Order: sequence, then C-alpha cells, then structure tokens
Amino acid sequence: MKYKPLSTNKMTTKDPAHGNGTMKKTKHQAIFRKDYTPSSYLIENISLLFQLNPGSTTVTAETTFYRNQKSNDFSSLVLDGEMLHLESISLDGRTLQENLYTIDSKGLTLQRPPEAFTLRIVTTIYPEKNSALSGLYRSGGNYCTQCEAEGFRRITYYLDRPDVLATFTTRIEADSDDYKILLSNGNLKQKGTLNNKRHFAEWHDPHPKPSYLFALVAGNLSSITDTFITKSGNCVSLQIYTENKNRNKCDHAMSSLKKAMRWDEEVYGLEYDLDNYMIVAVDDFNMGAMENKGLNIFNSKYVLASHETATDQDYIGIEGVIAHEYFHNWTGNRVTCRDWFQLSLKEGLTVFRDQEFSADMNSRTVQRIDDVNILRNNQFREDAGPMAHPVRPDAYVEVNNFYTVTVYNKGAEVVRMIERILGNTLFRKGMDLYFEKYDNQAVTCDDFVDVMAEASGVDLNQFKLWYSQAGTPVLEVEELWDKESGEYVVTVSQKCPPSPKQQKKSPFHIPIEIGLLEFSKNAIEGTVTLEKTTRKLLELKKSKERFSFKNLKNKPLLSFLRNFSAPVKVRKFQPKSELFLLMAHDDDLFNRWNYAHQLTVDVIKNVTLSLKFGKKPIVDKDYLEALSVCIQKQEDMALCAKILTFPSEPYLAQQMKVVEPELLHRSVTIVKKTVAIFLWNWLEDTYRQCYDADRHSISAAAMAQRSLKNCCLAYLSLPGIEDSAAQQLCLKHLRMSRNMTDVFAALSA
Ligand code: BES
Ligand code: ZN
Repeated sequence: MKYKPLSTNKMTTKDPAHGNGTMKKTKHQAIFRKDYTPSSYLIENISLLFQLNPGSTTVTAETTFYRNQKSNDFSSLVLDGEMLHLESISLDGRTLQENLYTIDSKGLTLQRPPEAFTLRIVTTIYPEKNSALSGLYRSGGNYCTQCEAEGFRRITYYLDRPDVLATFTTRIEADSDDYKILLSNGNLKQKGTLNNKRHFAEWHDPHPKPSYLFALVAGNLSSITDTFITKSGNCVSLQIYTENKNRNKCDHAMSSLKKAMRWDEEVYGLEYDLDNYMIVAVDDFNMGAMENKGLNIFNSKYVLASHETATDQDYIGIEGVIAHEYFHNWTGNRVTCRDWFQLSLKEGLTVFRDQEFSADMNSRTVQRIDDVNILRNNQFREDAGPMAHPVRPDAYVEVNNFYTVTVYNKGAEVVRMIERILGNTLFRKGMDLYFEKYDNQAVTCDDFVDVMAEASGVDLNQFKLWYSQAGTPVLEVEELWDKESGEYVVTVSQKCPPSPKQQKKSPFHIPIEIGLLEFSKNAIEGTVTLEKTTRKLLELKKSKERFSFKNLKNKPLLSFLRNFSAPVKVRKFQPKSELFLLMAHDDDLFNRWNYAHQLTVDVIKNVTLSLKFGKKPIVDKDYLEALSVCIQKQEDMALCAKILTFPSEPYLAQQMKVVEPELLHRSVTIVKKTVAIFLWNWLEDTYRQCYDADRHSISAAAMAQRSLKNCCLAYLSLPGIEDSAAQQLCLKHLRMSRNMTDVFAALSA
C-alpha cells in the first residue's frame, strides 16, 4: 500500500556502538514551536571530501559562515554533531585552540566566532557500524545516506536545520573496484583515477539547500538511462541505479518518472532544474523513499517491478511514490521548511500533488476513495487517540515520530480544502505566487496560507485553525422542507471532541460540497431518473448555520459532503429509502460509492444481528436493487470493482460494538453469496466482456478492466453456488494469466 500509516517509532534508535565514549545521549527534552529563533550564523557554501575506507570514513568539511542579519546573539555558535570523532579543526587556515571550542554529545560550540569565517573540520565516522540508517551507512555492500530529518549531523559538525541553505560541493574518493559508482547531489564536475587503485568523483549542486537534502551513494550498481526534454528545451539525463540483477525491473519506475516530470510542467508549470536526475534503489531503508536534491534514494520495493513479481497495485504504488519524491523538487527542495514543525508544508502539499497526479493517471474516483479510506481508517483513529496532534504540531521530543498520517494525509486534505474554497484558477495563482515569493527560502505553513489568501483575496484566517487544532470535527445535519413556500433548509452544526492539551476548540472553516438532486418517476414502470442536480459549496464557519434554498418544486435529495470535501465525520441523518436512491443515482461518483459502502456495512450488520438471535438472515431487496442499478450504469470499471468489493472484516469489526469474528465472517459470506446470486447474469457477462483485458499491459484501462474481471471472478467462484464450474473457471483463469494480478486473483478465488 502506498500510504501505509507512516511508522512512528522506527527511526529513534541511536546506536551507541561507535563514536567517542563521552557521547551519551542526554535526557529527552521537548522542543517547542514557539521557541523558534533564527540561526545566529548562516552558511554560504560547504565543500565536502569523503574518503571511504574499510571500517571508517574520513570527512573533511570546509564551510563558510557569516552572521545572520536576523539575529543579534553572536557570542557563540553551536554546530550539531552526533557520533562523530573529531580529528582536527581550523578556522580561516589556523588550527583552533582547544579553549575556543567545546564538544559534547550534541555538538561543537565555538566561542566568539568572527563575523565571517571558514571552518575546516576533519571527522572520522563509522558507516559499517551505523545501524540507525541515518547519516552515512551501508546497505548491501554499498554506501548510502539518509539525512532527513537530522542525519547530516552524523556526517560532520554543521548547522543541521532546514532554514540554513548552502550550496554543496562533494568529492568522493573510494576503491575503484568495489565502488565503481560515486554519486552525490547536483551535476558531475570531474572524475578521475588516484593512486592505490582508487578513484574520485566531484559533484556540485548549484541550488542552495538545507543539509537534510544532502546525499551520497557509492557502490557497484548498474543503471538504466533515459532522457527528458523540459518544456523550455533542456535535456535532462535520467538514471535509475540498482543491483545488476535488478536492472531489468526499472522500466516502470523510469516511465513513471517521465510522466511525473511532464505532469508537473503541464499542471503547475514547474520544470526540472538540473542536468540530471538520479534514483538509487536500496534494500535497507527505513522509509519508502527520500527526495534528496537530484539524487533520490528509494526503498527498492518502490522501484523494482516485473510481471512476475508485481501486481497492478504495486505498479500504481511505484508510480505514486516516484511522483511524490519528484514533486518535492519544488514543494520541499526549492521552497523548504523553516523548522520541522512546518513538515506538513512540504509533505502535506506534496501528498496532495501526488494524489492529484495519480488521479490523472488512473481512475480519479477510485484514487479519491483510496485516499479517503487511508484517512478514515488511520488518521481519524490517530486524531481520536492519545497521539492526536495538529497538522502543525506545537512540540516534539523526537522529530522522527512526527512523520505521521496527520501531518501527511490530513495535511493533504487541508491543502485540498484550500483548493476547494478558492477554486482551481485562484489556487493555481496562489501556487505561482508561492514559488515566486519563496523560491530558495525556508518558510512556514502560515506563509503558505497567507500567499493563498493574497493571491485570491479570500480571508483564510479562520481556516488556519486546521493547522493548529487536532481532532476530527463531527457534523450534524438537519433538513427542513416547506412544501407550501418551496423552501428547503439545511442546518449544519459542527463539534470537535477534545484532544490532548486542547480541551476546547473553536469552530473550523469547513467547505461542504453538496448536490440537490431532483428526480422524476415513470408512473407506469415505477423507475426513477435523475433529472437535475444543483451544486453548491456551503462554507460552514460557525458552530451552527442555516443554509436555505428557495423556490423548489419538490423536496430535493441531499447529496452531502461530495467528493469528501472536508476531513470530517458526518452523523447519519437520512432515511434508508433516500440512501438507496443516492447509492443508485448520485452523480457525484465518490458519494455513490460512499453510500453503497455505508449501506453494505449496514446490511452486513443486520445479518449478523439476525444470526446472533437465531433469526433468518435477510438481505434487503432494496439494497440489492440499488446495487444493481449503481453498477450497471457505471462506466468506470475500476470504480465498479471498488463498489463491489466489500469492506474488510477487520474494518467491519471496528464498526461493531461487540465483535464476534466467526459470526461476522458468516454474515459477510451470506451477503456476498446473495449479491452473487442476484447479479449472476451480469457477473457472468461482465467477466466475459473483461476477459480479454490486455494481459501484458499496465495501462490504466487494462488495469481497470482487470480489476473488474477479477472482482467478478471472486463472486462467480464463491463456494456453494456452482462449485465445479467455479473450479474450472479458476483453473482456466490461472492458466491464461500473464501477470501477478491475475495469478493472485485466480489463487485467492
Ligand atoms: N521526505 C520523506 C522521507 C522521509 C521521511 C525521510 C522521514 C526521513 C524521515 C519522503 O518524501 C516521503 O514522504 N516518503 C514517503 C512516501 C510518500 C509517497 C508518502 C515514505 O517514505 O513513506
Ligand atoms: Zn514526502
């Protein structure tokens, strides 16, 4: 799955295995957002030399510092550093006397540094012993780095904070046989041979960047190469590096990269800004992937794919992660975060961008459903529990624990709401202004919202509460219909339960997209047709508000919170009869799925209750009919499959007060079988029609067709209906399969 709930505790391991004995990690202390102060010094550029040797690596860093006009305390300068062994230090060419600096487990402090100076620091580090996968470490015989959030301080003493931007020059020296490939950020300036069977490469990155975007890779890797011509005619060389045996599994990643590059030009007018773009796949990596400038490092599961190993979901996942890291080049790298409290500035925005990219590449509705499911199943839970925190947290002890589904996925929803409130044109205007104003700067979430307000003229002050208040608002809806006057009134109220350290909440600014649906009924056949939909955006700002619609002939049917326009919960307010109609006819496809999903859960719950009390389980006929209408007029095959795929049993269990797994499983089976029998002819026809989905293609159309085909297969082979035919069907399906998705489907069935 692409957006697994981001792990919380993986990266806090500090390995005391190496470094000076004096370096004990001090007691954990919270860091507060309100305590932010600008750095007293800034850095113009840094020149790094890595001498990679068995057992240890020598790092020589020459850094040019100057005073920050925004600060007034220049009495000392603290450089971050962990697990480093200092060999030598000199200032402007002279060895620094020992009374002018001190070292502790967190770094190096310089006393009374001059206004501007160059520091030359030589440190020894031990990548072989680095099991924290932060800083420079080894993975499968190769060297690689991971510097976000605070890994660079494990390479050299530095101002390891995202608001210090410098240009980097990196020279790598290593054994020429064992490390044929030497990579770092930016453009390759020089390479050559040295004595003792060693060689070197020198890289220069012209774009000023924070240290968390630094990267180095050295090893014996193979690569595939391609090129991309940007819209203004620059030729970018693209490389994907991996172990030689996996070289033939990189094509999909490469084509995904090119799609992402084109998309960012077309949708945001954003071009790539270096001569080359490199991706390296490694097996040991805590996260999915990392957006280091010009040199992304990926967990190999988000790069490698072949027909024998990858399902359609894997292909879609790779495309999404490749795009995500590529999009960071502008949202994250060119415009970066002032401090780690602003993490959502880059992650929320970039997740929003990769979601939109995936929506354009595949089924937009299915993408939205998947994204909403991640939110509802993971983020809502986080938001309701003891770990609840705002999209922009106020305090942390360990920054690595804040790469959460709230910062990422709720952060993306917050950006989406801004887009919804402003409309596409003004949102794009805001994005343009954001890049124009803040290119090469480190900024805050407030800056982002302010720029959106400035570009659009929309007041977003109340909206900012989405960044500062945790918790999921709950909406209650009431409808009033006055037949006499033709007035229809929707009253919406919001409440947000208390969260840790936030007992009382102010009302949020919530964009609620609605549709008022009007139907006509064929008097003879009794069939219902959707005549007209009136679309509106309600902007709820108070705790309770009334929205009135006049001069209507009949009471409209309310399609509420279309396309999930805000990350909120909605209390049920509509009678079942209306929900069935909405499930069958709503022209907002997300909501059509949503109603179907809700009703499926209800039907299963009812069957469970019947079984529990020894009654005959009954599956509502209206449900079956609505489901039948809903799928039969569905052109989007991927969505059709989604609607027919039942919620998982663990999910269903969460919706129940008392969980009896065995009973639940039986209920699900009963409902599935009832659906299968009711839709049998349609399932058979559809299976046949989809059967020839191009087995070698991973185009969106082929994948969608496959998903529907395999969904039909699952129904047609349910045990206890047509058992021997089902077996033949599955065997044939398996024999004909040419990809992992079909194999998987046949075997599961
Ligand atoms: N910048 C992160 C990777 C990261 C996070 C590195 C935390 C170090 C600490 C990257 O852009 C990212 O968000 N990766 C995601 C995948 C993405 C598609 C959401 C990941 O690694 O899970
Ligand atoms: Zn990211």
